[in-house]
Amino acid sequence: MATAGEIAAVGVIGAGQMGSGIAQLAAAAGCAVLLLDADPAALSRAAASISASLRRLAAKGQLSKAACEASIKRIRCVSSVQELRDADLVIEAIVENEDVKKKLFVQLDETTKPSAILASNTSSISITRLASATKRPSQVIGMHFFNPPPVMKLIEIIRGADTSDQVFAAVKSFSERLGKTVICSQDYPGFIVNRILMPMINEAFWALYTGVATKEDIDTGMKLGTNHPMGPLQLADFIGLDVCLSVLRVLHNGLGDNKYSPCPLLVQYVDAGRLGRKRGVGVYSYRQKPSSVKP
Ligand code: 3HC
Repeated sequence: MATAGEIAAVGVIGAGQMGSGIAQLAAAAGCAVLLLDADPAALSRAAASISASLRRLAAKGQLSKAACEASIKRIRCVSSVQELRDADLVIEAIVENEDVKKKLFVQLDETTKPSAILASNTSSISITRLASATKRPSQVIGMHFFNPPPVMKLIEIIRGADTSDQVFAAVKSFSERLGKTVICSQDYPGFIVNRILMPMINEAFWALYTGVATKEDIDTGMKLGTNHPMGPLQLADFIGLDVCLSVLRVLHNGLGDNKYSPCPLLVQYVDAGRLGRKRGVGVYSYRQKPSSVKP
């Protein structure tokens, strides 16, 4: 099995915002990166945004021009799992759906080399259950990045019931090689950060739903009153309201406490397709200025 220093080739599955950010980090750390997505348009968008992001860093002097161009060259876009056969570490960042992820883990187990470590960027799905879909549960681990991955300084590592000490150590040092601080969580619903963050976001929806205050005052209150970079409703739009709802449902089902029950207003926004920034509308509208949508 590869140690952190030996992780030379990294497969990243899912060319959305998280997957492209992870691919950028791994390439900048010197790894050969295989970025996989079934959608060629998503791959082209990811390649363009990674190049633009790395070139912005070079323009700001945070990366040499040569290192920037070398990092861009280290990323190869691919369209089938078979092309990940030589990867030392595969990180999946696909849709938050347990059945879909399990199917992918079955495929990865069959196609990647026996020593490969399989990691999930899931925000709340059980690593133990994902690992149980494979014949190598000791090599399955959670690597939870935060959005936007190139900026956020944290990686939350989740050990499944069978994750080995060797795999944990390799992924921890690899995360540090990416320039991140690591925290370790046991495999319980929501892990550490989302278990604490999502109830706060849910409470902000309750405050809006029950007429405590306007969305702007709720956000300004939390931004300036607690020094958060974004208010909780703005942050929910940034994360995606569907993602927030799905994490809350995992917390509610997994921990069985009504305090995690999603606010009806959040459920209604998701039902209406108001998923946040990615759809141009969530709690706020991003389609016109000034940004405002009636709750
Ligand atoms: N990729 C790379 N760099 C980016 C970026 C991206 N997508 N977005 C912003 N940046 C960089 C900018 O280039 C800028 O760099 P500079 O300071 O060197 O010039 C810096 O980040 C600040 O960006 P901006 O000036 O454009 O904007 P802000 O100062 O408003 O910062 C933000 C934007 C970093 C997103 C900040 O608002 C923030 O930290 N928000 C909170 C984000 C957060 O909490 N994320 C975690 C969500 S929870 C999660 O992901 C877990 C999941 O499971 C739900």
